[in-house]
Amino acid sequence: MSDAPQKLTESPDVGDVLVSEDDIRKRVAELGAQITADYQGRPLLLIGVLKGAFMFMADLSRAIDLPLEVDFMAVSSYGNSTKSSGIVRIVKDLDLELDGRDVLVVEDILDTGLTLNYLRKNLLNRNPASLEVCAMFVREGRQAPETDLKYIGFEIPPTFVVGYGLDAGEQYRNVREIRAFEGSL
Ligand code: IMP
Ligand code: MG
Repeated sequence: MSDAPQKLTESPDVGDVLVSEDDIRKRVAELGAQITADYQGRPLLLIGVLKGAFMFMADLSRAIDLPLEVDFMAVSSYGNSTKSSGIVRIVKDLDLELDGRDVLVVEDILDTGLTLNYLRKNLLNRNPASLEVCAMFVREGRQAPETDLKYIGFEIPPTFVVGYGLDAGEQYRNVREIRAFEGSL
């Protein structure tokens, strides 16, 4: 039997809480209210970017008091490293068509913005009525200045983080808050 801690949040790889569960809950409610006001009477389609956005998508969609549809795309940009490779691969494409729809891309975190820039071009080619982006977390000072984000949850410092859907090597997605990752990959 190993003496290693069995509880996820007691792992030495999981550090300080940077954004608490309570702050996340309040911010998601605010974003939902804002989106509800902005998209009145429009055919809203939320596109979640898997896997990281699964938890944010579940919370945000319930915070929006409008008829809407959801779809998911899976892209891979990091492999298992903590640095962006700049190479984006569509691992799972959408099921729905975008023609005439008001599309809101739901992203977990923006680091360099490379993933989003690729996605935006790809989705605009499918003729949506509009295309906006809601990112729960944005790492400060890392994106090109023209990166255009309509809705942002929190700006976070330049440390690699886990929790609330975000992983390190596929682990820690179920940590309830945003914490600094202190392990190595
Ligand atoms: P970008 O292309 O550099 O903007 O990277 C965006 C993607 O990298 C996100 O959608 C995440 O999946 C992943 N990512 C970036 N920063 C982190 C982090 O701190 N923790 C976990 N995943 C991250
Ligand atoms: Mg990821």
